[in-house]
Amino acid sequence: MRATPLGWCLPRVFAHRCGGALAPENTLAGLHIAARLGITAVEFDVMLSADGTPWLFHDETLERTTDGVGRLGAASDVRLRELDAGIRRHPAFAGERVPTLAAAAASCRQFGLYANVEIKPAAGCEELTGAVVARQVEALWAGSEQPLVSSFSEVALRAARAVAPTLPLGCLFERVPADWRQRMRQLGALTLHCDAALVDDDVVAEAGSCGVPVLCYTVDDPLLASALFSRGVAAVFTDRIDLMGDDQGAAGHPW
Ligand code: G3P
Ligand code: MG
Repeated sequence: MRATPLGWCLPRVFAHRCGGALAPENTLAGLHIAARLGITAVEFDVMLSADGTPWLFHDETLERTTDGVGRLGAASDVRLRELDAGIRRHPAFAGERVPTLAAAAASCRQFGLYANVEIKPAAGCEELTGAVVARQVEALWAGSEQPLVSSFSEVALRAARAVAPTLPLGCLFERVPADWRQRMRQLGALTLHCDAALVDDDVVAEAGSCGVPVLCYTVDDPLLASALFSRGVAAVFTDRIDLMGDDQGAAGHPW
């Protein structure tokens, strides 16, 4: 963890989708593995079911990561509880369930994992997803350090900000747009997230000069991570939690 100029702490390495490549994505098994490997921070994606419950899930459809079919947003909570979210990754993970945000929060708190909750709204559900996830995050992490809540959807982030005025927010981009400062100011966002392959040194320098940490996804090579840190990037998301820890590239880091 490094103190940012804003006075709060930011880990250097986040396990991507809970446990990176070592577990089925967005599962409690991933959180367990990350904690066992000494990772201190995790990122996961959150989407709403047909019942309006936040679940850890990346795709709009169930097929790639579970034994279900159809859209997550059309599935009831009862249906989602039946799905196997491990078998497609490896038979050893058969029986692993899709977790609710509430279950993930309990595991993060139990293991002392700092969380980056990525709001991943299904198309057309941006506002509702942003508001529901932000409210739940505040309630689930009450009394402990609030997660960093990010999204590619500015509509979702605006809705999150409207219901949670003090929640730490992060703006997610592929390539950072020229008007990133204005967009972040309007949302009261603290962090800037972008694709590691598209990160721009001028943006990193400008962000550094105004105290905004830049976080890059998805970085699976420790040498690339070190290079990004020496360019001023504050943190990376990785699938290779077996290769990277929070001390990765610490020397000379500005945060
Ligand atoms: O939040 C960083 C990263 O997770 C964004 O991409 O598609 O893996 O959610 P994705
Ligand atoms: Mg994500």
